[in-house]
Amino acid sequence: MSVIQIQGGRPLSGSVRIQGAKNSVLPLLAATLLSRGTCVLRNCPKLTDVDHTIDILRSLGCRVEREGDVVTVDSSAPTGHTISEPLMREMRSSVVFLGPILGRMGRAVISYPGGCELGPRPIDLHISALRTLGASITEREGRLDCEGSLTGGEIVLSIPSVGATENAMLSAVCAQGDTILHNAAREPEIVELQSFLNAMGARVRGGGTSTVTIRGGLPLHGAEHTVGPDRIVAATYLSALAASGGEGELTGVDWRQLSTVTAVLSEAGCTIRSGADQVWLSAPSRLRGARPVRTAPYPGFPTDAQAVVMAALCKGEGTTVFVENMFSSRYRHVDELVRMGADIRVEGKVAVVCGVKALHGAQVRATDLRGGAALAVAAVGAEGETCITGLRHIDRGYQSLCEDLSGLGARIVRLDTSTE
Ligand code: UD1
Repeated sequence: MSVIQIQGGRPLSGSVRIQGAKNSVLPLLAATLLSRGTCVLRNCPKLTDVDHTIDILRSLGCRVEREGDVVTVDSSAPTGHTISEPLMREMRSSVVFLGPILGRMGRAVISYPGGCELGPRPIDLHISALRTLGASITEREGRLDCEGSLTGGEIVLSIPSVGATENAMLSAVCAQGDTILHNAAREPEIVELQSFLNAMGARVRGGGTSTVTIRGGLPLHGAEHTVGPDRIVAATYLSALAASGGEGELTGVDWRQLSTVTAVLSEAGCTIRSGADQVWLSAPSRLRGARPVRTAPYPGFPTDAQAVVMAALCKGEGTTVFVENMFSSRYRHVDELVRMGADIRVEGKVAVVCGVKALHGAQVRATDLRGGAALAVAAVGAEGETCITGLRHIDRGYQSLCEDLSGLGARIVRLDTSTE
């Protein structure tokens, strides 16, 4: 079993460089399937989710090589159109391959992603976007079979879903004619996907706004791209500095993508300064409660940062209310935080965090990616030793949680005795 052990209760101090963004690299890797040549992605984080995405590309007949943080994908001659069930089960976000496989191969077969740790994970918006472009889709025995040559059209998303926006963009670049995507997600990952597709020869405009327009049918060639910083990993380390009453700096970040998170941490008493590609935070010895934190699509407060910021605010003075508007089962870290002495009550979408004077170390288990990282955040501010298990969740999104927190001065070790 693998365990992270943290001796908490000491202010962190130091500097850490932020890894490339998991949620950017996955759709970028899916986009490489559309190229008739070789694509090079730099600053790719070393994550199990990235490994699974590479496995999918290989299973489709692409040649993929990884050297350090550089992944090279040769998609000149893909051979498959099916993602096997085990690969789909490893990573539900592999649904983002639906559009590119269909666009490139004329047919895509994947198993239905089903529910996940965060609750039901519907893909109705992905399906409806592809149908609007002319795909014929049948669902049978948990498999989705999509076929057809695509024609540009007008897609209206009822929710600005990140994955559906990406799938719509990735399929529309292969369609004949123009597509207009209304109520698109505005996350930085969409802007990054747009810029990569354009580097491949596509013509996509409006990424980062609610209306994205795509000129379809242009030939797509190889391109190079450097993956942007992971804003959620950055939010995690800012929360850890805050939870420990410490002071430190993150480099290689875009502070604008962190503004809703830093706003909450400043309200809680932290002093924060931002430079061109860095953010510096100094925390008081005791945080105070902040105004209600409501998760929302970008540029609102990210649902992925809810757990880590909550973990920081468990210890402090005053109450903070969280409202989780994006996913139904996103408070699974709460029971574990309570084992560490936190006072949190959950009622539906709402969690009320009453700050306590101190947290104490405990044996806790990560049950999802960001919830797992939240336990590490709480642990650096807790008295005594915390042991975290369930590390496979954390490994999906943090390439070096222990090294990074250690670089910030945390007393943290990982023990890998055998596979989990
Ligand atoms: C992406 C991120 C995830 C983040 C989420 C919200 C990746 C790999 N994952 O996930 O880390 O938490 O954005 O910022 O980028 N919905 C539907 N029908 C659909 C699609 C979505 O009802 O067809 C709903 C979802 O249940 C959810 C909301 O829309 O309530 C937003 O989900 P979405 O933006 O699609 O999240 P993902 O792209 O899956």
